[in-house]
Amino acid sequence: MPPADPGFGVYVHWPFCKAKCPYCDFNSHVRHAPPDQARFVAAFRAEIAHTRARIGQRRTESVFFGGGTPSLMEPGTVGAILDAIDAAWPLDARAEVTLEANPTSVEAGRFRGYRAAGVNRVSLGVQALDDAALKALGRMHTAEEALGAVAVARAAFERVSFDLIYARPDQKPEDWARELGRAIDEGCEHLSLYQLTIEDGTPFAALHRAGRLIVPGDEVARALWDVTQETTSAAGLPAYEISNHARPGAESRHNLLYWRYGEYAGLGPGAHGRLDTPEGRVATSTERGPEPWLARVEAEGHGGIVDEPLTRAEQADEYLLMGLRLAEGIDRARFARLAGRAFDPVRVAALLEEGMIAELPGERLRATALGLPVLDAIVADLAA
Ligand SMILES: C[S@@+](CC[C@H](N)C(=O)[O-])C[C@H]1O[C@@H](n2cnc3c(N)ncnc32)[C@H](O)[C@@H]1O
Ligand code: SF4
Repeated sequence: MPPADPGFGVYVHWPFCKAKCPYCDFNSHVRHAPPDQARFVAAFRAEIAHTRARIGQRRTESVFFGGGTPSLMEPGTVGAILDAIDAAWPLDARAEVTLEANPTSVEAGRFRGYRAAGVNRVSLGVQALDDAALKALGRMHTAEEALGAVAVARAAFERVSFDLIYARPDQKPEDWARELGRAIDEGCEHLSLYQLTIEDGTPFAALHRAGRLIVPGDEVARALWDVTQETTSAAGLPAYEISNHARPGAESRHNLLYWRYGEYAGLGPGAHGRLDTPEGRVATSTERGPEPWLARVEAEGHGGIVDEPLTRAEQADEYLLMGLRLAEGIDRARFARLAGRAFDPVRVAALLEEGMIAELPGERLRATALGLPVLDAIVADLAA
């Protein structure tokens, strides 16, 4: 059973990459001159102090350095930011501290430094275990180099996860089953398996529009999804969220905190947060561009551009949208506390009847395999 209080975490965004991958629309930027990391550390310290003054004391249960490519940060930069977080909101003895890394040998060379700085979990963007596919994805590493980085990571960290992208052009279910089996053989406790999404404004979107990049149709995509669920479950790494798989107990605490609708501070360019202030829960986000973010923090002490109080109904919607992604589903009583009303029993009965949702012990509801692809519609229905 999930904990009653989902806890507090901190997200730190590092907005730079060596090169932009043609499928990616994350807030990541390529700069010829390396960024001044000391200046960024000072700006992160300022945002931490600003947020601390707003929300007061907390115990930090997870920190996530995401990107962009956080493995371009110097270990000293990571350590300084962690020290500032610990001084503001002491890190729990069991806190999960994750850093996203690109699997090149240069970056693997910094892993021990991150460990010494306090990172205890690494999430590697392996993306594919096939060199032709990696090239087509515009990646700067081979499969062998990526597996080398996984090995270095496993030697340095107890907890290692990696990402793969599937439903790639021309990918056949039997090839994916083999590739996924190879990934599972690495013995990591956690895998994030994302279906390739064509994001607006990316080079892949232009190729797709021009008919030069063809992604699997619905039927093949469904077969690929089924292979993913069957292969990971059989190997003891079932899905605990739509795209995330783990050995029981090895789920990412930071991911769970988001999906359980916990509280998190979002620091750095383009970061989002949900803060419980004396005035209630607010949605925050910061300036997206790295240089404008720096300038804003240096002028105003924080990079925030959005700070919106969330109504009870909005919070209840967000809780549903997040929580129904999880295999553990949502707690009906928590929804009722947030929304100020219980679910409409007629709507719940209809969704159960249609097989879109299912009941779990402890007055919980989860989305079924039928319901997951139409989550927005289910949330709209339940929240109506
Ligand atoms: C911030 S990146 C991870 C760290 C690092 N930048 C890297 O690429 O190795 C987050 C992950 O999102 C996934 N991703 C990004 N764009 C995607 C897309 N269009 N479709 C599916 N997955 C995507 C990739 O698997 C990627 O590893
Ligand atoms: S996938 Fe990772 S390395 Fe590639 S552009 Fe996106 S954030 Fe950067």
